[in-house]
Amino acid sequence: MSVYGDYIKSVIRTVRNWPEPGVNFRDITPLLQNSAAFRKLIDSFVHRYQELEIDAIAAIDARGFIIGAPLAYELGCSFVPVRKKGKLPFKTISETYKLEYGESTVELHSDAFRPKDRILIVDDLIATGGTMLAAAKLIERSGGLVVETAGIIDLPELGGSKRIREAGHSVFAVCS
Ligand code: PRP
Ligand code: ADE
Repeated sequence: MSVYGDYIKSVIRTVRNWPEPGVNFRDITPLLQNSAAFRKLIDSFVHRYQELEIDAIAAIDARGFIIGAPLAYELGCSFVPVRKKGKLPFKTISETYKLEYGESTVELHSDAFRPKDRILIVDDLIATGGTMLAAAKLIERSGGLVVETAGIIDLPELGGSKRIREAGHSVFAVCS
């Protein structure tokens, strides 16, 4: 957890029973509307990763893009989108996985990285960990090295961060 964890958590809204009964949806739009909070969020990631020689941010469609783009800009590294199925125009590799609600497929361009590039995966939230793990598989299949998987929010009760760590990856979340 970051030094700003409690503050960032305080500007994230929980919407109960959305998009279906039983899901407590963590809505980051109040955080994004608050320019001071958004700046602190990006600064937390910059502070953690600026000395780690990251070659590329692999950001997950769609909410991962919101933090991935400013972070890549600040770190002076590449931005690579990991997209939902059917959105990338060039040759892709894909992974299908289960979500907290439903199933999904993510894709990566086959020329996204150079072999051994140091990759940071970012997304807004870790729930079951399926999305992060699918992204990590795509990166490793492409020859990239996953330095860490990072999110704004971890929901440890859903077991995702534990699953990701058990698969051998480091996990960072600003708050939980
Ligand atoms: C959400 C969230 C993460 C993922 C986390 O995305 O932004 O990407 O679910 O869940 P997991 O840890 O169980 O895999 P969603 O698939 O809802 O897509 P969106 O960003 O397009 O809303
Ligand atoms: N993605 C998967 N589970 C989620 C949740 N509880 N809140 C926001 N995004 C999610």
